[in-house]
Amino acid sequence: LFAAVEMAPRDPILGLNEQFNADTNPAKVNLGVGVYTDENGKLPLLACVKAAEEQLLAAARTRGYLPIDGFAAYDKAVQGLVFGADSAILAAGRVATVQALGGTGGLKVGADFLKRVNPNATVLISDPSWENHRALFTNAGFTVGTYPYYDADKKGVNFDAMLACLNAAEAGTIIVLHACCHNPTGYDITSAQWEQVIAAVKARGLVAFLDMAYQGFGDGIAEDGAVIGQFVAAGLDFFVSTSFSKSFSLYGERVGALSVVCESKEETARVLSQLKIVIRTNYSNPPTHGAQVVATVLNTPALRAQWEEELAGMRNRIKAMRGALVEKLKAAGVTADIDFITTQRGMFSYSGLTKPQMERLRGEFGVYGVDSGRICVAALNEKNLGYVADAIAKVM
Ligand code: LMR
Repeated sequence: LFAAVEMAPRDPILGLNEQFNADTNPAKVNLGVGVYTDENGKLPLLACVKAAEEQLLAAARTRGYLPIDGFAAYDKAVQGLVFGADSAILAAGRVATVQALGGTGGLKVGADFLKRVNPNATVLISDPSWENHRALFTNAGFTVGTYPYYDADKKGVNFDAMLACLNAAEAGTIIVLHACCHNPTGYDITSAQWEQVIAAVKARGLVAFLDMAYQGFGDGIAEDGAVIGQFVAAGLDFFVSTSFSKSFSLYGERVGALSVVCESKEETARVLSQLKIVIRTNYSNPPTHGAQVVATVLNTPALRAQWEEELAGMRNRIKAMRGALVEKLKAAGVTADIDFITTQRGMFSYSGLTKPQMERLRGEFGVYGVDSGRICVAALNEKNLGYVADAIAKVM
């Protein structure tokens, strides 16, 4: 039966974890996967999460099935966070939100739903994009192309080329956009540029699918989510996938969501009914724990305030590490312009290092980053920074 099954390549991001775990180099540093570790190199358990878990444990909950679309208090809390608690479209019942298995799950439920609605549409992702975007939409049955994004010379976004591509896209094309903290480049477009993207989406009849996996890691929760308000104000129907993996440090709980903005309450009910079929036929209904933790935090004012503070702590530490990396690289003798590292946003730096350089970093120094040159600056700390900077300087 399996004689003709070919060996699949390792996942370009999660596959690095397997390689890292098998590496016996005692100095090894994992800057591959997008995971935040604290100043001691440890994955944090947020105090707000711990407090919520204590409350949930004390209540000794039973474990019935959740509804197909998830825990209602969670879906509502997600909506409040993404669209603003006093949003008019929420009051009008125009958003269908379902709990999903992480941000990836939200993307997949949305992709499968779109395949039913518009099976012949093309999907455009940014060039470059998160490695899994292409694979996920391809596996959902779509042809996936790219729109220009990164400008290597300018160390930023080639916005004119991006916009020209969107303005030439066929009606119905699905455009996957990074709401904030673009993965992998760390370069976001400005709110004025978002307005131009929105105008193109509207004029061409495109379908916007916003991936918001890093809300709060750029400039703040409201600041990073502002683009959602711009899409709403334009009167568009669109998709948003949400992830709490990073912002709650709940990676393994797979806690995310998909929200679909619709034209009316009646349309929302129809869309929700279809999303539920996608979920039911994939994994039936989502798990309880992560969503209850997130809902408890977001719906308890004191815990929410604590979460915002802890998230700001992570954001600020990452920014400090960006500055420190630049200093250490300069001290290690790097003369090339590397100040771009501090203007990038979110967990990643698109370093400009080539695949052979990344392979050398892994092979000779045990410093793991993605072949594209992406390194996770959220995993840097005072202890590994000098070693990492020296290693990078040597391969440059
Ligand atoms: C990443 O880009 O490293 C994260 O989003 C983790 C993942 O699932 O790839």
